[in-house]
Parts: sequence; C-alpha cells; structure tokens
Amino acid sequence: MMIHRDRSNDDTGRQRTARRFAVGHLRHGARTLNMDGLTIVDHPLVQHKLTILRDKNSSILLFRTVVREIATLLCYEVTRDLPTDLVRVETPIATTDAPAIAGKKLVFAPILRAGLAMAEGMLDLVPSARVAHIGLYREPVSLECVEYYFKTPDDVGERLVIIVDPMMATGHTAIAAIDRLKEGGVQDMRFVCLLCSRPGVEAVRAAHPDVPIWTAAMDESLNDHGYIVPGLGDAGDRTYGTR
Ligand code: URA
Repeated sequence: MMIHRDRSNDDTGRQRTARRFAVGHLRHGARTLNMDGLTIVDHPLVQHKLTILRDKNSSILLFRTVVREIATLLCYEVTRDLPTDLVRVETPIATTDAPAIAGKKLVFAPILRAGLAMAEGMLDLVPSARVAHIGLYREPVSLECVEYYFKTPDDVGERLVIIVDPMMATGHTAIAAIDRLKEGGVQDMRFVCLLCSRPGVEAVRAAHPDVPIWTAAMDESLNDHGYIVPGLGDAGDRTYGTR
C-alpha cells in the first residue's frame, strides 16, 4: 500500500522542480494515511488557500476566487507526468529541439455545479482542453446520485479525462461520474478535488482502483447529512451564494 504525496517544498527536496514521493505511510497532522492512488498536494500555498476556504467568514467572492486558484495549482500537479516530445523551434537566436506536451488531449469534466469554478481555474492553465459537463445531484435523504445532464466531446474515449469536483464526501457522486464516463468509453481518468473524506476515498478506490485521486487534504469523517467534517460546508452554496 502506498500514498503519493507532493513534497516539493520539504526540507529534503529543495529542488526547484516539485516531485511526488511514494511513501508507505504519510503523517498528515496527527493522522497516518495509508492508501493507494491518492495524492495529497501539501504545497504551502495550496494548504493556505484551503484554510481560507474552510473559514466560514470568507466572503463568496473570496471563496470563488480561491477555489479557482487552488484548482490551477492542483491542475499543475495532476498534469505533472504528462508525456512530452521534442519539437523543433526557432528562437530569435538559433534552432533547437524543445519539449512540448504530447499524447492524449485533455478533457476537464466538472461535476455540476460546484466543479465549474474549479474547471475555470484549470482552463487558466490548459486553455486548449475540452470540457465535459456532468450533472449529478445528491438525493438529500438517501444521499444517492441522480443524473440530470451529461455532455462530453465526441472523441472523449481517446482523451485523458480529469474529473473535477471540490468535495469527495461519501464518494457516491464520484463513483457515479466515473461509472458514467466509463459507459461513454473513457478509459483514462483522474479525479481532482479540494477536499475528500477518508470514507469517500476508500469507497472510490474500491469501486474504481484505476482512477487516481488528487486532493489538497483528507478529513476523517462525515456527518449525518453526508457533509465532510470539519470540511468547508457546501461548496456549491459558498461559491454561488445560494444559502
Ligand atoms: N458537498 C459539499 O459541498 N460539502 C460537503 O461537505 C459534502 C458534499
């Protein structure tokens, strides 16, 4: 069992290029996490911005702005291993071979509605990416997912799909979104969230072990309404000011 943790700013890794380490056990605060396929991006900027999101006194404008900013930073990490090819380029001084992104084209797949602000932050970094929209909501009593919208690019099966949803709580929504994308022919997927719960991650990893997860933090538990504790509240309501 292993967990991948971004430790680009650790004392042991002063290199400018951030790296992901595979370690058997991760000490995160007082907790030991031990799970396959989970990357916690613990860069201080990401952690600082997450704290702003957790603060119930942060305004709607601040919340929305910071969601977008963290999404840009998480996008940087989730795309870290994309392949590159050398391409010939002429600088003003000389001709050289320099790396350019190669391989599968990207699709960002926000789960509506809370994923939209995150997708905008990712598009800031990869403006050429396509966007798929996945409309799912949690039925308030059963917490099960209901689909109301699903639209992907025609060639989505040949692309790398990065699903974005700020909160992975029970994991039901994430599992339903991945199920649906697989039905649509997608084979290569990654999931990015701002915050996940341990039970949610365990459920998603059990259902879809082929889909790795990137997040800024993992909280331990959920309350009776399926909200992450301590969490940051309802990400959709806080982004759009609907409560
Ligand atoms: N969705 C949210 O927006 N917040 C949670 O804590 C759980 C699900």
